[in-house]
Amino acid sequence: MNLETFLENVSKNIDRKIDELLKPFEPKILYEAMLYYLKNGGKRVRPALVAMGAYITGGHPEDAFTVGTAIEFIHNYSLIHDDLPAMDNDDERRGKPTCHKVFGEDIAILAGDALLTYAFQILSQKNLYKNVNADRLLDISNLIARKAGVEGMVAGQVMDVKKIGDLEEIAKYKTAALIEASLVSGAMLGNASPQELDVLSRVGQKIGILFQIVDDILDKEGFYEELGEEGARELAKTFASMAIQELRELNKPEKTKILEDFIIYLLNRTK
Ligand code: IPE
Ligand code: MG
Repeated sequence: MNLETFLENVSKNIDRKIDELLKPFEPKILYEAMLYYLKNGGKRVRPALVAMGAYITGGHPEDAFTVGTAIEFIHNYSLIHDDLPAMDNDDERRGKPTCHKVFGEDIAILAGDALLTYAFQILSQKNLYKNVNADRLLDISNLIARKAGVEGMVAGQVMDVKKIGDLEEIAKYKTAALIEASLVSGAMLGNASPQELDVLSRVGQKIGILFQIVDDILDKEGFYEELGEEGARELAKTFASMAIQELRELNKPEKTKILEDFIIYLLNRTK
């Protein structure tokens, strides 16, 4: 399986799932604010990791797209709230006005709330899934809640705002936790053993930190400011090699090659 084809297939299916799962509703302004970032050129990195986790362990691709869409909702809520004046106070994202610039701060906050809540509505709606039992779905929802919230992303945002911990520690929570949850929840859709989930959880953490370092290099902040371009590049490469090395512990080269390729792609990405 070729990476480019795999990623194109993920993007196409996530676009379809977003439309299927989030149909127009009233109040229209809430629907439009929720959809605004979702339909504005995101890379779909997290859904791709869900799909790869499922691919490695034999999970149903359609279930991976459903879980991937829920995680993409959570990711997009975090972007909306992160852009707000009380947080980063950004006027633009992906070359367009930020959500609060278009819809107002009140609606941006509420659209974020609604995306987060809606993600768990989807994760817990049993009839949306083809090949997962309710017990597994509960475990997947629990993992995603933990990694998006007080054990992960929200805790990391607080650490970032209050400058608690070093950059690597902050990245582990703020960025890597949800990325790890994406890969692991995908693997939970298949027949992953506890050992395999443990390996993929470590791989996901490394990918998450490498992702944040590269993001900082592209934005000339964080790791870039602290280590310089060369230093930050070296550190990103170190995390990429660690991720690939740990992934090889699974001993399924024909299944994990796609994720290896994705790790290299994330290391070399330019947007
Ligand atoms: C941006 O994430 C925020 C970080 C965690 C660094 P992405 O770069 O995955 O955002 P989009 O969805 O592709 O714009
Ligand atoms: Mg950024």
